Amino acid sequence: MEKLIIAPSVLACDFSKIGQEVEMLNQSAAEWIHIDVMDGVFVPNISFGFPVLEAIQKKSSKVLDVHLMIVNPEKYIETFAKAGANIISVHYEVCPHVHRTIQQIKAAGCLAGVVLNPGTPTSVLEDIISDLDLVLIMSVNPGFGGQKFIPNAIKKTKEIKDMSIKYGNTKLKIQIDGGVTVANAKDLVDAGANVLVAGSFVFNSENPIQTIQDLINSVQ
Ligand code: DX5
Ligand code: ZN
Repeated sequence: MEKLIIAPSVLACDFSKIGQEVEMLNQSAAEWIHIDVMDGVFVPNISFGFPVLEAIQKKSSKVLDVHLMIVNPEKYIETFAKAGANIISVHYEVCPHVHRTIQQIKAAGCLAGVVLNPGTPTSVLEDIISDLDLVLIMSVNPGFGGQKFIPNAIKKTKEIKDMSIKYGNTKLKIQIDGGVTVANAKDLVDAGANVLVAGSFVFNSENPIQTIQDLINSVQ
């Protein structure tokens, strides 16, 4: 069975001690750290930007997975890459020239992902799936942590998995973000997901390191 990657979202961490939170994640089985950048325009919330990413990068030994919930993401790709991003994902809904934006992310030395909102069908990726390193399927409407999982994401995961096979992109990372817990992790992995983001489920637990391991164990 393919190894499941857990990407804890630091949106749910205690920002008054973010360095310690990242050091805690360094000790965990999580391979990526998920970084949610929100602009208050594309989504109805504002999170953080470059200085926080740079601070995380200084402490982290993990892959930094940056989820841009911003309009005009193409303006900031190189700056996010310089600030420490290893993976950059942009929303399909804000990218009229998504193919160009993907090439721009790769040229900046990062892996490239496209994100689909719950209301965006998977079919829009048919013509670019071969160019992608990652597809992120939102299982909540983006903007906030702690929301309820939308089960239709399982169907969309299967569709992206089938599309990746159809176009021969066998290395594609299929990532799910929003409301992920041990209650839905196995269904998602069985449908084809290989990266799970988890924010509140990890950071609101008594023992985040154990909770990350619980997520991995739950899909066996
Ligand atoms: C939502 C963000 C998510 C969020 C997930 O807009 O993209 O990454 O932090 O948080 P949970 O796991 O609590 O739904
Ligand atoms: Zn996210």
